[in-house]
Amino acid sequence: MPILTIESTCDETAAAVIGDDAAVLGQCIATQEKLHEQFRGVVPEVAARAHLERILPVIDTAIRAAGVTPDDLTAIAVADRPGLAGSLLVGVVAAKTLAMAWNKPLVAINHLHAHLYACQLATDQVVYPCIGMVVSGGHTSLYRCDSPLDLEYLGGTIDDAAGEAFDKVAAMLSLGFPGGPAVSRLAAKGDREAHSFPRSMIRDDHFNFSFSGLKTAVRYAIVGPGQQDFSKVDLAEDAKADLCASFEAAVVDVLVAKCARAVRKFGVGRLIVGGGVAANGYLRSRLESAAQRDGFSVVIAPMDLCTDNAVMGAIAIEKIKRGDFAGLDLDITPGLQR
Ligand code: KG4
Ligand code: ZN
Repeated sequence: MPILTIESTCDETAAAVIGDDAAVLGQCIATQEKLHEQFRGVVPEVAARAHLERILPVIDTAIRAAGVTPDDLTAIAVADRPGLAGSLLVGVVAAKTLAMAWNKPLVAINHLHAHLYACQLATDQVVYPCIGMVVSGGHTSLYRCDSPLDLEYLGGTIDDAAGEAFDKVAAMLSLGFPGGPAVSRLAAKGDREAHSFPRSMIRDDHFNFSFSGLKTAVRYAIVGPGQQDFSKVDLAEDAKADLCASFEAAVVDVLVAKCARAVRKFGVGRLIVGGGVAANGYLRSRLESAAQRDGFSVVIAPMDLCTDNAVMGAIAIEKIKRGDFAGLDLDITPGLQR
């Protein structure tokens, strides 16, 4: 049964060996955070080159950790969409090469569907059908999910993703990259009502999001309208904490309101949430409270499966059950996927 899963959509190079019942037999993640920190964001060219250096050692480490040999593998799965073109290409070419060399079938994984499948890995109960929200650095999207592979796009961000907004606010406050964890840590010490930041489209009867106005409002609160220069910003820790807390409250209010609305509208009674921002403690607790209040169940991806990883590639098992294999002509699909 063991399958090899490969993930290289953005800035983590990851591989895992998944056994029966989606058991993780071995895995390895090489993060590129240090490489991108100086640029306060992921630089696609730097990411692609780093993937190239790491992909084979990462795969080798995962296979050794699992105590299996390539002969034991029954398939090789790889995330082929969406993501940065150069990053995707490294994973897909590696997977195709190994599939050919080792004579194994190839499976293509949608990275967003995999982020949601991380929730299924958290519980023995079947979580589908449900409403699914992916909140990451690249996406903020809501789906109606009939099964792991049958998803209907309900709406998503029309500008920045939620994680991107966290990263930009962190950059404005010189909190490092990636910004989510740092903003969240400071937010816990701040006053969520210190600033009244916009909650765009929170009451609108659709499932789109917009976070660019919020980002601009935070910028105005730091340097004033029309200013871009953050180099002279010298805020006290308390002031930074209040900005982070008020910003985080605005993002979370909108995410929770839209999820609750979708669960109500489609009457599915269950919500699943995955992606890097799902690691946010305040979002997790607010989702739990909303679920209790409105009487639906919520399954949030386990902390170690929120940010990019290859374990969530276990969704490949669902594709294998359907006989849904890719050919060796598999190409990348970088574009924004719904
Ligand atoms: O899912 P992911 O690893 O990559 C994408 O597919 O985009 O998500 C990364 C994003 C980054 O923007 C990061 O700042 C954010 O997830 N993130 C968080 C937290 N941990 C990671 N955002 C808010 N709170 C956190 N604790
Ligand atoms: Zn991701």
